[in-house]
Amino acid sequence: MQDKIHLVDDITGHRRMRRNRKADWTRRMVQENRLTVDDLIWPIFVIPGEGIVEPVASMPGVNRMSVDKAVEAAKEAADLGIPALATFPNIEMELRNETGSQILEANNLINRATAAIKKAVPNIGVITDVALDPFTSHGHDGILRGEEIVNDETVEQVVRAAILQADAGSDIIAPSEMMDGRIGAIRRGLDAAGHQNVGIMSYATKFASGYYGPYREAISTGGLLKGDKKSYYLDPANGTEALRDAALDVEEGADMLMVKPGLPYIDICWRMKEAFGLPVFAYQVSGEYAQIKAAGLNGWLDEEKVMLETLLCFKRAGCDGILTYFAMDVARHLAKHG
Ligand code: PBG
Repeated sequence: MQDKIHLVDDITGHRRMRRNRKADWTRRMVQENRLTVDDLIWPIFVIPGEGIVEPVASMPGVNRMSVDKAVEAAKEAADLGIPALATFPNIEMELRNETGSQILEANNLINRATAAIKKAVPNIGVITDVALDPFTSHGHDGILRGEEIVNDETVEQVVRAAILQADAGSDIIAPSEMMDGRIGAIRRGLDAAGHQNVGIMSYATKFASGYYGPYREAISTGGLLKGDKKSYYLDPANGTEALRDAALDVEEGADMLMVKPGLPYIDICWRMKEAFGLPVFAYQVSGEYAQIKAAGLNGWLDEEKVMLETLLCFKRAGCDGILTYFAMDVARHLAKHG
């Protein structure tokens, strides 16, 4: 027995890491990262009509909401202390076409939602995506000419759409279509239109991922998509290319950077934070949400535990915040338990 004790002692010496873990109070004292309500951005889906709250089948707990209901939800979110919403529209099929021209209607669904939310809940931030995919008949983020998603023409349209979104009251424009040169073009466009104070959160590193499936159901683009998005989204294999892409966005004037999806790309979060020092946000996307929900509903995982753990991991990886469909659940949890 004596010998065994000495064996352990010889290895550890005075170095016993477990001393700091021995009690709840020591663990709280040494905790390095903490999730707070200020870290949460809540993505919501908006649909036409009134009084409608409609569940998304592959995202249990997530709904599509008409503008009036989205305003109510925004109030609730603001009351819980959530700093910002990210809005995504499900556009009527008859308004979608090859070029996504509905995005250039000043009074389109997404702009109506922004105006209504900002009017009723001025103290919550509204972040709007300017990709074309909710508006195109083929589900691509840009203009399709033959087999090609054309870059520069798409950027011109995205800039015009961004100005309209800012006119409607959007606080932060979030371009997610991964065209080259878009950040600089949007910045110049916003400035020329007098929107110097409207920020840009670049979907700087957006990967061609299988995790977007449930989102495409939520905005009804999944069935439409022809081919894939590999000619403009990043290859999941490429971290260095992702950093280079983000560096261009930084040079072009992005105020904030985003990594999407989140957890499988957490190394990119860390590398981007280290490289640029700009605020970095992770998008815990629809498929990540669906995985946790499905396992939770089956009793295979403790949903709440895993939800909180994944979000805390984003903080540890250097993220300044997370876009997550769990935002309201987390905010309620934090309000109760801190
Ligand atoms: C496209 C866009 C996507 C998401 C938001 N905007 C990806 C896609 O459909 O290719 C995904 C969000 C999610 O999965 O939660 N501009």
